Amino acid sequence: MGKTVLVLMGSPRKGGNSDRLSDEFMRGAREAGHEAEKIYLKDKVIGACLGCLACQGTGGRCVQNDDMDELYEKIKAADSVALASPVYFYTWNALMKTALDRTVAIVADMTDKTFYLIGVGQAPSERYMATMIDCFRKYVGCFRAGDSREGGYVFGYGVDKPGEVEGTPAMGLAYEMGKSV
Ligand SMILES: Cc1cc2nc3c(=O)[nH]c(=O)nc-3n(C[C@H](O)[C@H](O)[C@H](O)COP(=O)(O)O)c2cc1C
Repeated sequence: MGKTVLVLMGSPRKGGNSDRLSDEFMRGAREAGHEAEKIYLKDKVIGACLGCLACQGTGGRCVQNDDMDELYEKIKAADSVALASPVYFYTWNALMKTALDRTVAIVADMTDKTFYLIGVGQAPSERYMATMIDCFRKYVGCFRAGDSREGGYVFGYGVDKPGEVEGTPAMGLAYEMGKSV
């Protein structure tokens, strides 16, 4: 049976490099028989985590009522979650970080999911993406008790202007990663 694949798109640039890489990832996933959906975090109203931890005593209900309510349901329902973001100052951008912080409310529901990372940056090689990869691994590691895992990552290197990722090896790698979901 096909899996449910959710792409959280952190870039504020629709049609930008991470967006295009995500499309290749989704194309691969769909061709492999899975359902794939992309959510643009830019279009959502998502407040920063207040750190009140009220969610820990209310079965995962956040005190904020915003578009995370919709995302919580989508993340819970997904078999695979891809975090797509440009590298901003060596890690994922604020839109992504804000949404991920809010998932503290649903830690108990992060069971049996596979996480992917789709990144792009101006820097020329993986060496410069080490912080983002480390953040990704440690984020996924928080759900290891629920049997969630890392599925892989792909980066577009040396890309800045929207669309520059087209024609780079990252496109094929993203497609293959999608097929392997
Ligand atoms: C605020 C800001 C910080 C950035 N910091 C980095 C960085 O640390 N490393 C890097 O490789 N690229 C950096 N970049 C470049 C972006 O990652 C690059 O333009 C990327 O292609 C944007 O992705 P998008 O097209 O998906 O929006 C930065 C860009 C911005 C706007």
